[in-house]
Amino acid sequence: MGKNILITGGAGRLARYVAEELKGDNNVTLFDLVTPDSTPTPWETDCKFVLGSLTDLGDCMRAITLSQAEVIIHLGAITHTTDQQPGKKMIQRRPEDTTMQVNVMGTYYLMDAARRIGTVKKVIFASSYYALGLGGRLSGAPYQVDYLPIDEDHPMRPEDTYALSKVLGEEIIEAYCRAYGFKAVAFRLMGVVYPFREFETNVPVPPNPDFKGGPVRTTWQYSDCRDIAYACRLAMEKDLENDFEPFYIVTDSTYPNDTKEVVEKSLPDLKEMAKNIKEGEGLITDAKLRKMLGYKPRHSWR
Ligand SMILES: NC(=O)c1ccc[n+]([C@@H]2O[C@H](COP(=O)([O-])OP(=O)(O)OC[C@H]3O[C@@H](n4cnc5c(N)ncnc54)[C@H](O)[C@@H]3O)[C@@H](O)[C@H]2O)c1
Repeated sequence: MGKNILITGGAGRLARYVAEELKGDNNVTLFDLVTPDSTPTPWETDCKFVLGSLTDLGDCMRAITLSQAEVIIHLGAITHTTDQQPGKKMIQRRPEDTTMQVNVMGTYYLMDAARRIGTVKKVIFASSYYALGLGGRLSGAPYQVDYLPIDEDHPMRPEDTYALSKVLGEEIIEAYCRAYGFKAVAFRLMGVVYPFREFETNVPVPPNPDFKGGPVRTTWQYSDCRDIAYACRLAMEKDLENDFEPFYIVTDSTYPNDTKEVVEKSLPDLKEMAKNIKEGEGLITDAKLRKMLGYKPRHSWR
């Protein structure tokens, strides 16, 4: 029946919806450091579950062997920075190098386990729009936008370790595709919205009293977890020409106005560039995903 799929970060919030989308017609196995019923947002599942760490090659090999995975959906990660950053007070809950260990070395161990075992043909990776460098602006310098709308060809200029770990994660997977013939896609997710969490839709025009040139932290766009889960299905089922393809994935923006109008009010320095944004498009475009995989978001608030 269907494909054997291994989902890393299998106890996490996104895994819950990806598993739900795929388990009806595939064999889904979850792999995580913790069980789904012991997470901050506990949930139950009848999927096979493998307990272990991405940072242990043996655990990764065990998870792939037990699932006989043909597809890996790699969601497991530390979803923030764990290192002390200049000027920021942070309670240190984990060793400072945890983000880099899990996200970078964990991706390396997973891909290395995959090439050793040999069942895996396709990898779907949860990257982030933070990889652009929009998130942690450690330098304090404004984010540099080269053109609008931002697409997959726009330079990525990460500063903080979370963003850097996503860029390196993509690089590792692409290198393994090149070397060992895997096919892979990286979905650069916007902030993910879940049905169990209330969602603020009525952001008028983003307030920006401290405008210093270029968007800071956010483009006021989001990805609904159910749209991401559906995109995983499309990526699994469609064959792409290139071994590795990155895609931005957007459900919608959070403002009711046209993006050009928002830019004019909140990001006036980008007004000229914004002329290229089409109706209904945000600052980041997922036109490539729509064109190549036939993606159409189903969970807009509009
Ligand atoms: N939530 C967002 O807004 C957002 C935005 C962009 C990208 N992403 C990416 O999407 C993916 C899923 O995010 P989520 O919202 O489900 O986060 P989540 O924290 O709910 O899930 C991540 C899971 O990874 C697991 N994990 C951490 N370290 C591990 C290790 N060493 N070995 C095995 N598993 C480990 C955690 O236990 C957790 O269950 C992540 O890669 C994240 O970086 C999320």
